[in-house]
Amino acid sequence: MCGIIGYIGERPACEVIVRGLKRLEYRGYDSAGIVTEENGELFIRKGAGRIDELTGKLGFLEMPGKRGIGHTRWATHGVPNDINAHPQRDCTGKIALVHNGIIENFAEIKEELLSKGHRFESDTDTEVIAHLIEEELKSSESFEEAMRRALLRLKGSFALGIIYTGEPDRLYFVRNESPLVLGIGDGENFAASDVPAFLEYTNRAIFLDDREYAVVTKDSYVVKNLDTGETVEKPIHEIEWTLEMAEKAGFPHFMLKEIYEQPRAIRDAIHGNADVIRTVAEEIAKYEKIFIVAMGTSYHAGLVGKYLFQRLAKRVPVVEDASEFRYEFDDLVDEDSLVIAITQSGETADTLAAMKLAKRKGAKVLAIVNVVGSMATRIADLTLYTHAGPEIGVAATKTYTTQLTVLTMLAIELARVLGTADESYLNALEEGLNAIPELVESVLKHDESLRELAESLVDRRDFFYIGRGISVPTALEGALKLKEISYIHAEGLSAGELKHGPLALLEDGVPVVAIAPSGRTFDKMVGNMEESRARGAFVISLGDRGELKRLSDVLIEMPETDELLTPILYAVPLQLIAYHLAVLRGNDPDKPRNLAKSVTVE
Ligand code: G6P
Repeated sequence: MCGIIGYIGERPACEVIVRGLKRLEYRGYDSAGIVTEENGELFIRKGAGRIDELTGKLGFLEMPGKRGIGHTRWATHGVPNDINAHPQRDCTGKIALVHNGIIENFAEIKEELLSKGHRFESDTDTEVIAHLIEEELKSSESFEEAMRRALLRLKGSFALGIIYTGEPDRLYFVRNESPLVLGIGDGENFAASDVPAFLEYTNRAIFLDDREYAVVTKDSYVVKNLDTGETVEKPIHEIEWTLEMAEKAGFPHFMLKEIYEQPRAIRDAIHGNADVIRTVAEEIAKYEKIFIVAMGTSYHAGLVGKYLFQRLAKRVPVVEDASEFRYEFDDLVDEDSLVIAITQSGETADTLAAMKLAKRKGAKVLAIVNVVGSMATRIADLTLYTHAGPEIGVAATKTYTTQLTVLTMLAIELARVLGTADESYLNALEEGLNAIPELVESVLKHDESLRELAESLVDRRDFFYIGRGISVPTALEGALKLKEISYIHAEGLSAGELKHGPLALLEDGVPVVAIAPSGRTFDKMVGNMEESRARGAFVISLGDRGELKRLSDVLIEMPETDELLTPILYAVPLQLIAYHLAVLRGNDPDKPRNLAKSVTVE
């Protein structure tokens, strides 16, 4: 996730852009850059670092011109450094652009452009777009046509801001699967990834839809469909948010916003790994001995990974809490081992220590990480990114479901390489995964009824979360979310374990959350729910089968999907239940007491 802000009008563009970038910093903050134009010349200043620091160091506020575009970056391709920061430009230096998203087929286009003599400065997928437009311009009647032709070749997600010296009065903005909003002013216009970037100047906004672009001058704008080139009529929305509300895109907390971002985040995780997953799967297929190490929510992702690897690739990984792995496995890990480290931040002390131990012992280390360039990526031999964008709420939400997405892709591809599962089943599973973002959207519609459910449970002191098979980690994660932010005691366990102790704790009204999707163990779950109800428990079930109604006090109806994909989908209502309980109990879910986003000490 990155932030884009564009301005065209009568003010010094750099001032509007720097203020906008500050407001977008929550979308990414590893590097930033600005392009402005005056008298047919582009001025570009950019670098790695935070906006405030760069503003002083690079003199952002001294840049000339009344039109320009800025970008704050959260790296996806290429480490965060001065060269990879946006804007990126073409060979002639006449076209400059900024990008939020991931171009899946950039490698193939780059190769083609290299063979045509284009010279690249950066490692980014973004730079390819500038050169592709330059190339198309050679055979196009107008810049707009060249831009459209280039963009039609791109696969992936992209919001773009584009400036061209050949057209002194305009800017172009494009949206496809990454957000972009126009701000309509008086004799000036704006565009940004998000409303807060321009809200102090105008509250009139036009939300671009996917595959639309806008041609914006200081006094006019026109929105067109990218595929047909036809003009699209767009309504102007009057935004009533305060600036503070707007930073959270109207959500009261970052956590809720991040929960709602999951469809987009999962899509980006799929797009962002589509090209690389095969190579990684081929590499890890060589290892029979697999360890997965992680902490907290990432550890739960690791447990889901274990089920996926077992079912699909017939490999049985050992999943260890990284703090235990360091001391218990040092003489078991060796050069025949693969260690998969899962860490959102890439900075968790115990996970890093486990990775270093694995490296010392000669093991191959694969990291699944959200933060590009973090320590974990520097230790690992191979890295897969989750592409969730910055997560500000302490409790992991979108980083968890994107970790699961990447692990699912990896298990599917590994099964292909090893020939351990039926190809038609793997294809169907892959299709199922591609449909998950949409299903998550439908699950988010339960939000209000989950809030009402939370209201009825606000005074309960203990919760139990139960599941079987691949739903065991979902139960653990549901309980962890509740503990972390609502401070209610919760236990997650395999439903089979219920009878071996916890059943003694069930009495009237104790909530039991049963994760009960269709699948191998559905019937067994039915038995566990019946025994819980017989002890007076208040059973809340999550599932896709009608008979659950009879067995539950409350049924959260879930869309049907393959059992192996349910951990991604079923995490969402559990996050929402925890969130609402936290808020109803007067807690700040973004900053739970005693907890930190990254635990950098042992
Ligand atoms: C902390 C956070 C959790 C996170 C865990 C692991 O406990 O509060 O949300 O799951 O660290 O963090 P990592 O960055 O390694 O995934």
